Amino acid sequence: EAFKRALVTGGAGFIGSHLTDALVENGCRVTILDNLSTGHRSNIEHLGDRIDFVHGDIRDAELLDRVVEGCEVVFHQAAVVSVTQSVEDPPHSCEVNDLGTVRVLDACRRSGVRRVVMASSSAVYGDDPRLPKAEYMAPMPLSPYAVQKLTGEYYASAFGRLYGLETVCLRYFNVFGPRQDPSSPYSGVISIFMTKAAAGQAPTIYGDGGQTRDFVYVKDVVRANLAAAGRAEAAGRVFNVGRGESIRISELWDLIGEIAGIELPPAFGPPRPGDIRDSVADIGTIRRELAFAPEVGLRQGLEKTLAWV
Ligand code: UD1
Repeated sequence: EAFKRALVTGGAGFIGSHLTDALVENGCRVTILDNLSTGHRSNIEHLGDRIDFVHGDIRDAELLDRVVEGCEVVFHQAAVVSVTQSVEDPPHSCEVNDLGTVRVLDACRRSGVRRVVMASSSAVYGDDPRLPKAEYMAPMPLSPYAVQKLTGEYYASAFGRLYGLETVCLRYFNVFGPRQDPSSPYSGVISIFMTKAAAGQAPTIYGDGGQTRDFVYVKDVVRANLAAAGRAEAAGRVFNVGRGESIRISELWDLIGEIAGIELPPAFGPPRPGDIRDSVADIGTIRRELAFAPEVGLRQGLEKTLAWV
């Protein structure tokens, strides 16, 4: 089912730009709203004038009214995505992740958008020792970022009940792939490790390296978004998006080294405040209800990512 017109907030970012590629390929006219705080024009340059790029901020209500007009579906991907950044500056991440999200939802309900698919996070589960993490488990947000993502889910649900706006929240686990920006200290661990490996340098592991993450390839996350937007059963729901398998951070470095053909012992630093210990998704719900299954394995995804770095 192709959409005629969609808005992707954060569409110049890592996940948003891959999502935009898929939508455009399906014949959808896409408007991107991005303030380029962490997104890059280079992520969308190849799309030329097949998209409408609007350089602006999700906190700008008037601008939102303009860009949602005529859209059937909105993919809300814009956010301050770093846990660490939210720990260092809670008010800023709160403004973007919470107020920005409420403004996006509000513009959508007023303009008659049918459905909003929102990027949430596995961070909402916190350090609940029960694994794998399933949607029915009580959230235990540990960082401002996690609180903000959970709040966004609650707003989505309230907007559904109050205004009939269809919303779907996707709890992304650790997404990786080409275009994930390695250049900031807040970048995703795979993008940082890949860049180090390509340069023949050792990375720093925060903590003992025994913490685990469920890494899911960006193209699979795109497919989950399309299913969430297209399938009637998804409305009003929250779904995990992961691979359902985890790896220790120390083993991740070993695997990247193996693929890159280098062997370098990592440096170790103090654990990061707000970091969670273990994370792995139960993907039974999305599998059953949206017929979604991840297709790209970790090694395969790492190889594709290394080819891009
Ligand atoms: C990531 C996402 C967040 C998402 C969450 C879902 C990024 C930047 N953040 O947070 O948006 O909601 O997953 O689970 O992608 N590490 C090192 N050395 C490094 C960098 C990281 O040891 O140089 C460790 C971290 O301490 C952490 C793990 O690797 O234990 C993963 O870190 P990171 O990629 O930043 O992801 P999350 O904090 O899990």
